[in-house]
Amino acid sequence: MAKTKSPTKSNFESAENYKYPGSVNLMRPEVGVQAQFQKRKAPQRYRYDDSLSPILEWDGQNPARERGEARIARAEQELAEAKKKLSGTPEPWEIVAANGHLAIAQEAVRELKAMGNPFLNWAGKAERLSFEVPTIPLFIHERLSTKAILETLKGHRRDKQIDMLDLWGDPQHPIADQVLRAYEHKDKWVNRMILGDSLVVMNSLLHYENLGGQVQMIYMDPPYGVSFGSNFQPFVRKRDVGHNDDQDMTREPEMVQAYRDTWELGLHSYLSYLRDRLVLARELLTSSGSIFVQISDENLHHVREVADEVFGTDNAVAIIDFAKTSGLAASDALATACDYLLWYAKDRAQIKYRPLFVGRSSGGESATPYSWVELANGQRRSMTKEEREGVTPIPTGSKIFRIDNLTKPGPGSRYAFEFEGRKYEPGKRWWGTTPEGMGNLGKKRRLIAVGNGLYYVRYANDFPVQPLRTLWADTATGGFVEEKYYVVQTNSKVVSRCVLMTTDPGDLVLDPTCGSGTTAYCAEQWGRRWITVDTSRVPLALARQRLLTATYDWYELKDESRGPAGGFVYKRRQNSKGAEVGGIVPHVTLKSIANNERPEEEVLVDRPEIQSRVTRVTGPFCVEATIPTPQDFEAAQSETAAASESQTRVSFTDRMLEILRRSPVLRLEGNKTVTLKSVRSPAKTLSLSAEALVQNGVEKPVAFIFGPENGAVSEKLVYQAAKEASAKNYSHLYVTGFAIQPNARMLVEQCANVVGIPATYVQATPDLMMGDLLKNMRSSQIFSVCGLPEVQVRNGRKRDGIAQYEVELLGLDVFDPVAMEVNHGDDVPAWFLDTDYNELCFHVSQAFFPRTGAWEKLKKALKAEYDTSVWNHLAGTISAPFEAGEHRQVAIKVIDDRGNELLIVKSLGDAKR
Ligand SMILES: C[S@@+](CC[C@H](N)C(=O)[O-])C[C@H]1O[C@@H](n2cnc3c(N)ncnc32)[C@H](O)[C@@H]1O
Repeated sequence: MAKTKSPTKSNFESAENYKYPGSVNLMRPEVGVQAQFQKRKAPQRYRYDDSLSPILEWDGQNPARERGEARIARAEQELAEAKKKLSGTPEPWEIVAANGHLAIAQEAVRELKAMGNPFLNWAGKAERLSFEVPTIPLFIHERLSTKAILETLKGHRRDKQIDMLDLWGDPQHPIADQVLRAYEHKDKWVNRMILGDSLVVMNSLLHYENLGGQVQMIYMDPPYGVSFGSNFQPFVRKRDVGHNDDQDMTREPEMVQAYRDTWELGLHSYLSYLRDRLVLARELLTSSGSIFVQISDENLHHVREVADEVFGTDNAVAIIDFAKTSGLAASDALATACDYLLWYAKDRAQIKYRPLFVGRSSGGESATPYSWVELANGQRRSMTKEEREGVTPIPTGSKIFRIDNLTKPGPGSRYAFEFEGRKYEPGKRWWGTTPEGMGNLGKKRRLIAVGNGLYYVRYANDFPVQPLRTLWADTATGGFVEEKYYVVQTNSKVVSRCVLMTTDPGDLVLDPTCGSGTTAYCAEQWGRRWITVDTSRVPLALARQRLLTATYDWYELKDESRGPAGGFVYKRRQNSKGAEVGGIVPHVTLKSIANNERPEEEVLVDRPEIQSRVTRVTGPFCVEATIPTPQDFEAAQSETAAASESQTRVSFTDRMLEILRRSPVLRLEGNKTVTLKSVRSPAKTLSLSAEALVQNGVEKPVAFIFGPENGAVSEKLVYQAAKEASAKNYSHLYVTGFAIQPNARMLVEQCANVVGIPATYVQATPDLMMGDLLKNMRSSQIFSVCGLPEVQVRNGRKRDGIAQYEVELLGLDVFDPVAMEVNHGDDVPAWFLDTDYNELCFHVSQAFFPRTGAWEKLKKALKAEYDTSVWNHLAGTISAPFEAGEHRQVAIKVIDDRGNELLIVKSLGDAKR
């Protein structure tokens, strides 16, 4: 087992990351084996328990009676089983089994109670008693590790001492194992970023990986369900999104699918969308787990009703109001200043809760009771108005205090107590402590007479913090404090608090709405394991950049061999002014002084000991995706499912054909177009979708193949279509899709040589799938020819006798199939190199964010160890030099502004001098 090495003086300034030696993951296959992977599973059906009439009726034909009786029977049966196990002297295993039965009985009672609650109804709810989710495997597409990038840059060579694949967390399973034994092997834990619909991904986590009951906290920040077009950002580098602006509409298939399903019936569909996801989220949570749902005031009440239904009102923990940066300035009424977090426990009785504390003046709650001051000479007085308002400082050496009650309402002692020559009685109440205790308070100058009463003196320093409550007014820090990546980014202070309150280091956190990756970032910062999911490539591209380039404090580990799961170190420390600045603070109470006890101590979980001068970076993580492949159409499912899928496929092809007929224009860069005529379905075809003539083109017709409706064009689809088009003597093949797999894309480029017919990839705008939602779509924007990166691989100077290579990204090429020429653009948001590409998945060894300061934080932190030129490379278009690896090929992945990934593989044998 790998030991987590704590950074020491000897490796100051190098970058370190946390490891999770005790945690495992089930092995997922890498994308390179996707075509061979056969372990398919049937879709999963989830049933709701409600859709009952709001009035619980027990007679007639009401289905509530049947459900109610079933639950009563279940509770009775489980209680009887538990009783049986506990009779006599139970063995330990019998106690465990009895607890299991009690938990099921408790669940049945919870469901029974829930049936009597009023609930929210909406269009379509009563008709939809269950829903089905495809059970799709996840494939690993990319492995990332900041440490691996830094190591590659260090000597510009593969360090034989360092196991690079280990830095990426790559267990290197043989292909046969990946195909035949995926989801069986256990691997070391690696954090995960997943592209796909949250429902499909959560279902996959539950049913391919058995992750049910293993997630400690879920942070969900869904679109707020207020207007179509909000809450997502279609471009990597454009943060301002106009509502319903055609230009800003997303162009990604999975994304559009999600939104189409979500908003077809407006709020009604939105509530169904949320309920489905909450049902699966609940299954993933461990019994002590929590979920936070972020929402605005428009739908807070509805979402609360839905969450009550799924989790049970008993499990509602709190509604947190947190200040947001930008409120909607309503000129005719109050401007909104906050958003909300709905916090639910899987089981309120078992919740894991770590209280947080804030400074007396922070957290948005005032410190007004502390309005007295004790001067350095011991004299006491109330603060002046100017002192209270902070206009005048309090005199040096003085202490602030408040006066507090010495009596309590409940039974205790009643006696006369003498203080400074005067006798005091507790009146109708009781003293809070004994006469000796009062004596101790007096001796320690903790008593003060004010008016006719005697009071306790509580210094502000007795407990320098106060418990965090549900009003978080200090979270609107504004863009200048935190880097803003995404239009709807949540302040990391908000997410950090949720992480800290409900998890311990090493626990697993899930965010099914990743966005710019705030939850992953906060989980990484606090040493929690994470999985984050988004249906859109744009936010995932932003999240990947944010995590790769982030730096964090190194929190000292209690037990290095266990990693963060062993906990962090907390200490009591004071600064030169005597203020408590450590993670342990004293909690002096009346009771501890009265009884002469040592004061209690409180742990501030957000203040672990920091090992200074160590730069911590994000640990290894992988990018996975669910995107179903076209083979899914052939997958052996139930006959009806297969029949309905092939039906869908036929109607989709027909729809596409009709659209091509009505909008026969293919758009190229630079306002150029190709116009088609006589578009029709080909006769007796095996794999082609359409044929047409090109206006002013050659007389021979061209062929079309349409990719799948909800997935990427595969290599096999291209190959079969090209073979048929070539055999039938078409002049050109147009491969049309919403997305394309990298190897399919390569085959399109090489089709003329490989199959004997030139081919072009035509990107179809996913707006097509939105039906009536986008009524004013311009036909010239439906089909466009998509770019491919142009790169040059060169031999660099030899180093220690070993050949070095470098890659230059020349730009994105867009091929013009009419003029047969390439048009060029050279500004991309990100590009990556895998300097030893194994065709199974992409190991990011160099990551470039051209013309940005993305790597600035690391550059500053590691300036002693890395030459400036290294960082210049990472902000440019020429790679740092590298050696060829075992596979003698380099893969270059370019991310375009839409978050699309374009991949090119180059052999290192034929690099130009
Ligand atoms: C409000 S944003 C989350 C922002 C995030 N809290 C942050 O700090 O950046 C909501 C995200 O959910 C994603 N999303 C919407 N529907 C989804 C679905 N069905 N599955 C997965 N992600 C979805 C959107 O793409 C968007 O990035």
